[in-house]
Amino acid sequence: MSRVKPKSALERIAPYRPDTSGAVSANPIRLSVNEGALGPSPKAIEALRQMGDRLHRYPEQIDADLVAAIANYSGLDPARILPSNGSDELIGLLATAYCNDGDEAIITQYGFLVFRQSVSVAGGVPVIAPDEGLTVSVDAILKLISPRTKLIFLANPNNPTGTMIPRADIERLIATVPDHIIIVLDSAYAEYLDGGDEDYTDGAEYVEQHDNVVMLRTFSKIFGLGALRLGWGYFPPEIYATLATIRGAFSVNAAAAIAGAAAVSDKAFYQRSLDHNRHWMPRIQASILQAGFTPLPSVANFFLIRFASPEAAAKAHQFMIDRDILLRRMTPYGLPDCLRMSIGNDAEMELVSAAFKDLSHIEGMGIAPEIKSK
Ligand SMILES: Cc1ncc(COP(=O)(O)O)c(C=O)c1O
Repeated sequence: MSRVKPKSALERIAPYRPDTSGAVSANPIRLSVNEGALGPSPKAIEALRQMGDRLHRYPEQIDADLVAAIANYSGLDPARILPSNGSDELIGLLATAYCNDGDEAIITQYGFLVFRQSVSVAGGVPVIAPDEGLTVSVDAILKLISPRTKLIFLANPNNPTGTMIPRADIERLIATVPDHIIIVLDSAYAEYLDGGDEDYTDGAEYVEQHDNVVMLRTFSKIFGLGALRLGWGYFPPEIYATLATIRGAFSVNAAAAIAGAAAVSDKAFYQRSLDHNRHWMPRIQASILQAGFTPLPSVANFFLIRFASPEAAAKAHQFMIDRDILLRRMTPYGLPDCLRMSIGNDAEMELVSAAFKDLSHIEGMGIAPEIKSK
């Protein structure tokens, strides 16, 4: 038997791998990974076409055009913007840079699972703050702060719950937490709110006011570039310097940089994506409700659907797979009676709506008889 052993922290981790399998065809209706509904920006595709003859060149370590495009889009200070290989990379780097072995990071009960995995891989200990219902509880987080706490990870809006943390709660957290603890605000889905809710903050303003608050963003959602792995963070100067030092020198490849700069500047595509989400979110939720199931409110581009039991959720998941519709099981998140789905394109939403109607006639779905007979 091999005597080669990974570091002991890795013996404790429950590996998290997004489940993208199960499709019947090569081109399923994939609503299981919260991707953008309308594909990539046409401007990003065009930009990529034009880079073909430069594939032999290493990318810029920090691409100035990309940073300028993000700064222009966000109105933020380019000196604090650090691009990354997906925002997942920044989550991992934060855990690696700030957790010594056995240090603690507070993560919320239904928080994004990558947080837990990254902390464990870094040798830290994820400490789980119970949510109130499906929403983050600042009080629960504050109770768990200990001398070993180094980081607090929050996704806002949160995946998979689709709920958001109100501005007042974020401000209370920042005001109360000792300033040697980093508060990570992962705002991967901020675009779907687009200033439409005064109670929402992506957190950038606090990064400028505090040395211990950071904000993470991604190109994998509204900008439709999941395949290229591109994210960015907004950091206080010292955290920026630390992460820029340990980040892989070439972790953002040239294709991602050129497509990202084009996508983030494509205002028409952005608006179309936002309008599409705002159009379909209430409609698809209404049709699922009409079919007798329970969609939960969401401020993002995805939502949970609650079923009568974990068995009913599993059956619904398989029923959808048989129609080549991929939804996400929520058992790893401790929500086995729920499935998560994202908003797809028009044709996909029509098919999903019809599929839920048919699902309501299946035995074992726990649908109230008066709804089933409709
Ligand atoms: C809350 C949250 N943060 C980060 C990510 C990862 O984004 P990226 O594709 O940029 O690594 C996701 C993707 O699902 C997410 O839901």
